[in-house]
Amino acid sequence: MSADGFADIAGLVRRRAGIVLTDDKGYLLETRLAPVLAKLGLPSLGALGAKLRASPGEAVERAVVEALTTHESFFFRDGKPFEHLAALLPKLSAARGGQKLRVWSAACSSGQEAYSVAILALDAFGPQAAQRLEVVATDISGEVIAKAKQGVFTQFEVQRGLPIRSLVRHFAQAEGGRWRINDAVRALVRFEERNLLADCGGLGKFDAIFCRNVLIYFDAPTKTRVLEALAKQLVPDGVLYLGAAETVIGLTDRLQPVPGERGVYALAQRRAAA
Ligand SMILES: C[S@@+](CC[C@H](N)C(=O)[O-])C[C@H]1O[C@@H](n2cnc3c(N)ncnc32)[C@H](O)[C@@H]1O
Repeated sequence: MSADGFADIAGLVRRRAGIVLTDDKGYLLETRLAPVLAKLGLPSLGALGAKLRASPGEAVERAVVEALTTHESFFFRDGKPFEHLAALLPKLSAARGGQKLRVWSAACSSGQEAYSVAILALDAFGPQAAQRLEVVATDISGEVIAKAKQGVFTQFEVQRGLPIRSLVRHFAQAEGGRWRINDAVRALVRFEERNLLADCGGLGKFDAIFCRNVLIYFDAPTKTRVLEALAKQLVPDGVLYLGAAETVIGLTDRLQPVPGERGVYALAQRRAAA
């Protein structure tokens, strides 16, 4: 691939999604963009780069970004944040006097993270769950949001992280050996296409935000920008969960790690005041 092609494609993905593609990612572009090239009838990534420079159009830009985002996810990923939230939910609910709790799964991919939170809520609150908690789940990718809304997962997907008792309790067998999540779980989650680089303030304030395994793709200034925007959407005693390879340290002083809780962060002023 020509250096020009790489620069055009990487520039687009960085501008639209914040994702940094380093020079060693040539192989990734080759593999992931092959179907996009076939669909557009273009002979090479160099030709795609030229198209992006000349007159890409919204549909082409979206297709390129979709192809180059990584959507890996699984139920109850990393365990600990969900254990932390499970212990927190009854306390927060009591502190709010029954007011509905709000959890945001930002960069939710195909929905496993959001549905894991909803399952926790059903397990904690039973039939009252819909009155006690709502999950807003967003992602830049329209394709994964559409899949997430369906709530249908393959055998492989449900085997990754989902305890068997949750599978039996919250899913029904669907066509083709797949599993459909029950309406009671789905009713707790609202999915929306949203870019974390855009203003997400309209989503409102949250008691807990999961923003995991997406900051790793951004450069430091973008991480700071996103973290500070997330901080503004946390209620004063809210918590932010980041992925195992992510942190706020060196990026913002508005958030601080919660001592002894890996991957859990709180607003700095609350901790200073506590
Ligand atoms: C690796 S998945 C992580 C999914 C889930 N949070 C987890 O930890 O299992 C990363 C997700 O981030 C999304 N993403 C990438 N850039 C984004 C952006 N600028 N705004 C919103 N979502 C983005 C991708 O579409 C992808 O679904």
